[in-house]
Amino acid sequence: MEYTITIARQRPGGEKYRQTINYESDTDKSIAMVLTEINSRKLYMTDKQATPIKWECSCLQKKCGACAMVINGRPCLACDRRLSQWCGNVIEIKPLGKFPVIEDLVVDRSVMQEELKAVKAWLDSSSRADGGEVCYEASRCLQCGICLEVCPNFAPGDSFFGMSAAMPLTRLLRQMDDAQRAEVSKLYSRHIYEGCGKSLACRDICPAGIDIEDMLINSNALAVWKRIRKK
Ligand code: SF4
Ligand code: FES
Repeated sequence: MEYTITIARQRPGGEKYRQTINYESDTDKSIAMVLTEINSRKLYMTDKQATPIKWECSCLQKKCGACAMVINGRPCLACDRRLSQWCGNVIEIKPLGKFPVIEDLVVDRSVMQEELKAVKAWLDSSSRADGGEVCYEASRCLQCGICLEVCPNFAPGDSFFGMSAAMPLTRLLRQMDDAQRAEVSKLYSRHIYEGCGKSLACRDICPAGIDIEDMLINSNALAVWKRIRKK
């Protein structure tokens, strides 16, 4: 089958352009495999300035979040989406839109790490590192940023930090000692609870399949209403 793949590209200096590549494949492949093949077979040479397409990946198993990008308008993991999952043979690939583009499909998501620091998302020595069902579910967050891409309330630099910050806090709030939890609960209220518009756009898009709504209910109960909902 022949595919027309258009990639939104951006040079390190900021110049943006779109490159269209004709790609043929007889087998179904992940978009990560397609990008790898485009680079290894130098199919990007249709562009006269011809540089390999920059994109990020690590695990190729839907476990690290590095390959998050927007494919045919849907934020997703490139290693998790296959050619056959789109209607027709026209595929458009763009970088995540809420983060600064470094080059091509590579974005700077360091704002997510800064937000975790701002909400003091770590345990101190007197905390318990035990788990429970909620902690396990929340710990599956990849920090991919796909939930931020679809969130109508998130913009980098605003006081609402989004679900990528809420998920680690959901786990840590349960494991913190009382003093640390009291401090972090205030940060949770300011940066998560007060800014969340409950659109739950994040709920259906999370590639890890985390039950974000349930995580939020648990964290709101603990940090805002000061009661543990369940273990
Ligand atoms: S909650 Fe889901 S979509 Fe958001 S950063 Fe974590 S894994 Fe990605
Ligand atoms: S490369 Fe790790 S999630 Fe896609």
